[in-house]
Amino acid sequence: MYEHDVLVIGGGGAGLRAAIAAHEEGADVAIVTKLHPVRSHTGAAEGGINAALRDGDSWEDHAYDTMKGSDFLGDAPAIETFAKTAPEEVINLEHWGMPFSREDDGRVSQRPFGGLSFPRTTYAGAETGHHMLHTMYEQVVKRGIEVYDEWYVSRLAVTDHDDPEDRVCHGCVAYDIKSGEIAGFKATGGVILATGGLGQAFDHTTNAVANTGDGPAMAYRAGVPVEDMEMIQFHPTTLPSTGVLISEGVRGEGGILYNDEGERLMFEYGYANNEGELASRDVVARAELTEVNEGRGIDDEYVHLDMRHLGEERILDRLENILHLAEDFEGVDGLEEPMPVKPGQHYAMGGLEVDENSETCINGLYAAGECACVSMHGANRLGGNALPELLVFGARAGYHAGGRDLGEAKIPTGPSAKSEDGHVDTPVSPGAVDAGDGDVAADGALVEPQEVIQHHVEAEERRVTELLEKDDGVNHAEVRADVQETMTDNVNVFRNEENLKEAVEDLRVARERYQDVYVRDPSRTYNTDLIHTIETRNIIDVAEAITLGALAREEFRGAHWREQHQERKDDEWIKHTMVSWNDGRPDLYYKPVVLEGEDKTYEPKERSY
Ligand code: FUM
Repeated sequence: MYEHDVLVIGGGGAGLRAAIAAHEEGADVAIVTKLHPVRSHTGAAEGGINAALRDGDSWEDHAYDTMKGSDFLGDAPAIETFAKTAPEEVINLEHWGMPFSREDDGRVSQRPFGGLSFPRTTYAGAETGHHMLHTMYEQVVKRGIEVYDEWYVSRLAVTDHDDPEDRVCHGCVAYDIKSGEIAGFKATGGVILATGGLGQAFDHTTNAVANTGDGPAMAYRAGVPVEDMEMIQFHPTTLPSTGVLISEGVRGEGGILYNDEGERLMFEYGYANNEGELASRDVVARAELTEVNEGRGIDDEYVHLDMRHLGEERILDRLENILHLAEDFEGVDGLEEPMPVKPGQHYAMGGLEVDENSETCINGLYAAGECACVSMHGANRLGGNALPELLVFGARAGYHAGGRDLGEAKIPTGPSAKSEDGHVDTPVSPGAVDAGDGDVAADGALVEPQEVIQHHVEAEERRVTELLEKDDGVNHAEVRADVQETMTDNVNVFRNEENLKEAVEDLRVARERYQDVYVRDPSRTYNTDLIHTIETRNIIDVAEAITLGALAREEFRGAHWREQHQERKDDEWIKHTMVSWNDGRPDLYYKPVVLEGEDKTYEPKERSY
């Protein structure tokens, strides 16, 4: 068994920032990650990092833009903590040597991004995440923080108290992808989940193949509720053939969207008469798909993003990476032609419920970055707010787990007297096929850390042996493809009751088929067939929580549009959707949104751009 004070699961932006923070507190910290850190998906983030750094800007304006962008489903304590702290996180990066793009006078450049009232997005060309990841990895190496890379964490080692809020997380179980060893990892100070996104639940996504919702699924089954899972962001500009991201930075620099008739669609059809291409992402994604649905799309599928008028010098200076992506993946020369783009799954606004200290309701278990829902993005995240979020709340997770007093959190976690029961009418029962096989044993008997970890190691060994010994059945890839197809067809930008119900049924079938899953490759070393099989179960669990939340929320808010409910219903729906695993029988409830900030209450207003 490996032992450290603090374990960080995931080596992307949130994980690296958390590890550095815990180390600053004097903790012996280790990162356990299924990829080498610099291969993490944060490296694919292109556009930038929002922070109120300049005269004329303020954290209050950043907070307001974020709350408005969230369509008033964000929690003010998280948003305000975020907006106040983002500038110091950017300055930290600057001090660590991040190669930001700069003005002639040497200041870090900032550009406009969607939904921002001030050009506050700092960037490094169109490769901001790549440079950020490398900058932080250097700090990890410099500090001698131990990294267990290519170790896949497949289970949390949590006590088996009946009430999740009594449970304690003592560590995790991980599978060494290189050797096949299954080992327990013990944490005396805390376990921080930083596993990133869940885009592999969809088949047209900007997310890497590694983004399989591992953290949310593991912790959900261990007792942490997932929050606002229905709020999925579809980025307006992805390449049609692959889902590869074309940064919002293109529109930030002045790129224009055209339909098949050569019309500047955002203005021509009044989708966003003030901000045009720089309206928030949910607005632009719906506009593009409306064009396609009304017959003004190109090849009935996409629209054009044109940046030619920006000129070669500016494009090479600020967007060079975009030229390579368009050329490599679509065969288009962005200096000479417009680029084809369409909406694609990009980001999960929801995730594991945490407070603004990044703590879940399970003692000793934290979550930060995309796998968490703090909640500051609410129903729609603003472009450029993901990287500062993972810095701010990754750091807070690390500081807190490392022992720093961050004060009492204002955002409640776990069910409380203020929770409201939810109900969703599903055509088939959701949840585990054999409910009761939860990752927690039962009855509160299992509490001693060593025993808890050993129990979970043995359970994982049994699961892996079973998967490897089975010599016939269904391959995970078939089940995964079915899940991705139904999610893309039925739980996309435009949603309706019939399609959402169809998705619930398809996911039931996927769960049942998963019972017969087997691993063709019997080896223990670099068995990606085995890893993908384990991941596929996670994909099913998160896809189901997304769909249940979407079916239950009968209104239109942010990224969640419903055909039969095309209005925001503030009287009824300013509340967070919560789903708890409940031993395999998903339980839906709601908790209030916290609109009270430090000095003011955010009044919901109509959102227009
Ligand atoms: O468009 C982009 O560059 C993506 C940025 C983001 O998701 O924040």
